[in-house]
Parts: sequence; structure tokens; C-alpha cells
Amino acid sequence: SSCTAVAPSSTANLGPGYDVFGLALDALYDRVRITKVAGKNSGRITIKMSDGAIPAALESNSAGLVIKKMAQDFAITDDLDVVVKKGVPAGYGMGSSAASAAAAAVAFAGLYKLKIDRNKLVEYAAEGEVASAGARHYDNVSASVLGGFIISSVGQDGTIRFIRIEPPKDLLIVVAVPSIPVPAKKTEVARSVLPREVPLKSAVHNVSGASTIVAGFALGDVEMIGRGIDDDVIVEPARKHLIPGYDSVRKNALAAGALAVTISGAGPSMIAFLKGKTKRKQVIKAMEAGFSEAGVKCRTFACGP
Ligand code: HSE
Repeated sequence: SSCTAVAPSSTANLGPGYDVFGLALDALYDRVRITKVAGKNSGRITIKMSDGAIPAALESNSAGLVIKKMAQDFAITDDLDVVVKKGVPAGYGMGSSAASAAAAAVAFAGLYKLKIDRNKLVEYAAEGEVASAGARHYDNVSASVLGGFIISSVGQDGTIRFIRIEPPKDLLIVVAVPSIPVPAKKTEVARSVLPREVPLKSAVHNVSGASTIVAGFALGDVEMIGRGIDDDVIVEPARKHLIPGYDSVRKNALAAGALAVTISGAGPSMIAFLKGKTKRKQVIKAMEAGFSEAGVKCRTFACGP
């Protein structure tokens, strides 16, 4: 028997919400199929990728890590064939590893009819992030598993709660994915350039921005969300040099009517937030022109109304 699950791309951080905020993006999807190999139970897990760029070795594959951990925890020793079909480009800040991990967790739970709640599913999916980020962060996986806008709230004692808010209907998103090569350990690199400690003043500033974003989602106010996203003085300033065309993409998109423009996750994709779809075409053109000023081509995706 087999089970297939599909999970969407996502954007993490939304400016000041580093490692805390995630938003599912109804643009691209990963698909994972897990099949029990009849009559074999040596615990062997074999992964086939539709995208040769990602390692199919169990330990360095986000879907593989999730399935390995779940098989261990539920004492399942069946041999499993796993097929990962990538729709989310890997390494561009669209939650690619998270989408595979999320689909893997859901497919595994479906195959064995496991009674696990949604929170626990997200925790399993987060196992996969270790493969690409070297750290267990929940922002992308939570959005990929649960959909919508998610706040991953990790308590001092390590307890994790996921708070979900349905995004406003008139929130439109444009993602521009630059066609540049990304290093294999891109997320780790993008995390290594961040300051280890921040001045209290900066922390206060980011808390204010993050609070504004949450209020905007809760109130269904897209302009408020946009104002909050623009308020990151910690992460984005430290990372923007990693993205060719960052300044021109941002400037152009804002001039074309975007409410906010930020790095999607750890980049290098850039994401613009719009109210309604009236400025969609202009913003797409503006972002393309921004990247092209830096000599970079890009693909764009829009999601929302
Ligand atoms: N919050 C993470 C980061 C997302 O910005 O490093 C990476 O996918």
C-alpha cells in the first residue's frame, strides 16, 4: 500500500518575524509518495528524487529525515520506497525543504493511520529542516503543514505552540525567484551572517514591527501587515548583500505600488505584499526590472486573490 501527500511552498520571516512567522504560498507544491515494499521489513528506506540536485541520501534529505524519525518513534520496520516530486525550487527561500518534509510527515501519518495531532505533525516535519538549515526552525514547516499565516511560539521550556491566522482575502503576494546559482548550504550561510547579539533598541524595533504584522493579520488589514514587514532592522540589513539586485528590486516594487518588499526566508527570492490585484502586473514588471539592473533574470509567481 502507499500514501501520497502534497504540501505548498511558504515564505518565512516576513521581515521582523525571523524564525517565528511563516505564510503558506499557494503557488508551488512538493509531492511525496511513500510505498510499503511487500514482504520486506529490514527498515530500509529508499528515496528517489525527481530533481537530481537534491541529495537522495537519507540523512541529507529533508523528507528522508522525517520518515526515518517517524519510523523509529512508531517502531515501524517495513522497507519503504519514497518518491519526492519537487515543485518548489530548492535553495531559493520558498520553503522547499519544508514542503518535502511536510508532505513526508503527512504521507507517513496517512500510510500508517497514525493518530497524531497537527502540532506533533509539524514537529516531525521540522526534523527535515536539520538537513538544509542545520537547525530546527518551524516557520516554513508549520505554514506548509497547517496553511495560512502561522506564528511558531517556542516557550522557555521548549514547548511549541502554533498559532494560525487565516490571511486576509485581499492579500496578494508576488515572489520573484532570481536565476542565480545558490550554494549547497545556502541557509546555513545566510544564518551565519546574522549578528549573534543585538542592541536592545533593535530588538524593540523588531518587536514593534512583528506585533504590527500579527495585528494586521488578526484584523484583516493588509496595509497594517505591510507597515510591520518593513520594520526589520536586524536580519534583512545583515543579509541583503547576499542578494544581487536587492536594493533595486525593493525600490522598484515599492514605487510600483507594493506595500512592502522583503527577502523570502533566507533568500535569494524577494517577496512583495500588495492589497488586491490591481497593481500585480506593475509590481511583477518592477521586480523583474530590479533584478535585471543587477544582470539577473528571475521567475515570478503571484498568489492570493
Ligand atoms: N527563518 C529561516 C531563516 C528560514 O531565515 O534562516 C530559512 O528557510
